[in-house]
Amino acid sequence: MDSDEQAASALTEAVVASFAGAADARTREVLEAVVRHAHALVRELRLTREEWRQAVDHLTAVGQACDDTRQECVLLSDVLGISSLVEAVNGEPEGTAGTVLGPFHLTDSPVRALGDSIDLVGTGTPCVVTGRVTGPDGAPVSGASVDVWQCDEHGFYDVQQPEVQPTGNGRGLFTADAEGRFRFRTVVPSPYPIPTDGPVGRLLNASRRHPYRPAHIHLIAAAPGFRTLTTHLFVADSPYLDSDAVFAVKPALVVDFAEIDDPEQAARHGVTAPFRHADFDVRLVLDDPGEGSE
Ligand SMILES: [Fe+2]
Repeated sequence: MDSDEQAASALTEAVVASFAGAADARTREVLEAVVRHAHALVRELRLTREEWRQAVDHLTAVGQACDDTRQECVLLSDVLGISSLVEAVNGEPEGTAGTVLGPFHLTDSPVRALGDSIDLVGTGTPCVVTGRVTGPDGAPVSGASVDVWQCDEHGFYDVQQPEVQPTGNGRGLFTADAEGRFRFRTVVPSPYPIPTDGPVGRLLNASRRHPYRPAHIHLIAAAPGFRTLTTHLFVADSPYLDSDAVFAVKPALVVDFAEIDDPEQAARHGVTAPFRHADFDVRLVLDDPGEGSE
């Protein structure tokens, strides 16, 4: 080790040691690891001053692109696969697979009754989603909350088009019945590009990556005593299932949105034929003893 390397190594150790007094052990552990990995990155790349300045400018732009209806920081985490990795390291083999939250869960979903439509526009392909929330033993979780949100048939969320879509379009907060069942009406969501008009879009462009996500419906299922599950239902015949821009697809979350051309079934669900039907059961796992529920 030459003297420059010795000085760099001493610097890393000095910064790590500076956190020794952190009151919270986990905070100390996280800060120390961040410093060790970030310093190692600088060494490995022999990062130039100009590259460091570009990195600072990029992160600044990511922060400045955020507002009440746009979350560029989550988007950056998503396209780098960090959001998916967090899900992977927190996976629950006995439960339904989780996946990324995404950047569009920005407003509270309107409370709706079972069977209601979350589509307030009525121009897309009618779709019915049904399912059941259970615990790890398969027993129903009565009264579980099921929060869903999705883009419209053109690939836009309500928060992206406040002049076009009514607030709450594509969103609903449902309460499962005594048997853990939930159902709602909607339209088939479209694949969509993540926003490319900001710094994350520039990153994708610079690396010649496409910005598309396969069609999906977001879902958060929660109930006291269980771990909150954040996941998606992916539309089985959607393009981009094999190249999701945010790396969120898991085979178990790809759901058949069956085409049904039967007026009787349509009437039973309160839609017109032909319509699509997705059935998706959610298996929650118990909260870890000692950990608070989310
Ligand atoms: Fe989404």
